[in-house]
Amino acid sequence: MIKLQIHPDIRKAATLPAAFYRDAAVFEAVKEKIWSTCWHYAADASVIAAPGQYFPLTLLEGVLDEPLVLTQNIDGRTYCLSNVCTHRGKIIAEAPGEHRQLSCGYHGRCFRLDGSFKSMPAFEEVKDFPTDNDNLRQIALSEWMGLLFVSLQPEVSFSKMVRPIQERLSWLPLDTLELASQHSQDYEVEANWALYCDNYLEGFHIPFVHPALNKAIEFGEYEYELFPYCNLQKLSLKPMSPIFLPLRVLPTTAGASMPIISGCSPT
Ligand code: FES
Repeated sequence: MIKLQIHPDIRKAATLPAAFYRDAAVFEAVKEKIWSTCWHYAADASVIAAPGQYFPLTLLEGVLDEPLVLTQNIDGRTYCLSNVCTHRGKIIAEAPGEHRQLSCGYHGRCFRLDGSFKSMPAFEEVKDFPTDNDNLRQIALSEWMGLLFVSLQPEVSFSKMVRPIQERLSWLPLDTLELASQHSQDYEVEANWALYCDNYLEGFHIPFVHPALNKAIEFGEYEYELFPYCNLQKLSLKPMSPIFLPLRVLPTTAGASMPIISGCSPT
């Protein structure tokens, strides 16, 4: 695999070699070292708002492809579990639902909503059964501002990762905002993930590629703050910029600093 060296002095650092974006071994290493260890947005907390509700998802489709299921147990606690049956590997929950347990549709193995093994038909004679290996694996889960985040092997706690964001954005009532899906758009970008992040993390292209945004902001005041596990991009709006008008109800006005956070971006 290629060896990468990044000069700690940003003035001496150079663009990564093309192989970084193309080498399959690098991609596999990134999956293990970055995507498996960082925190990912999973779903809105409303998908498991009541005891008994469960919600399956595939974590990072096309990259990690990890089948997971979010649950709210009968006692009100929430969990993220592996959605792969511990018997022969069938996907257990195939659609959101509400029930006191999860049941596998292949041979009928049942699990409680905290992932613990409950029952299995025709296994009464089996010795030393069940063991811990028969439980569904619990995956790290955190809720923040009504949003659910998961991590397969967290390198740091969610609270440590999110602390700088919390310190700067606690004035934003994120938990009361509602998704206006009519204003949402999906874009499929056929590019290596890092190329997209490279683009997202620099603002030098704004005057050339986003003229409307460039008119609305004070480009010369664009600032970055780097943290161990996230980064903050901060800019000021020109007076009366229409871009963030819906936020006028918040304790900021056009002309005030408007931070943009990119959480979980490897930096
Ligand atoms: S695969 Fe689930 S019970 Fe057999």
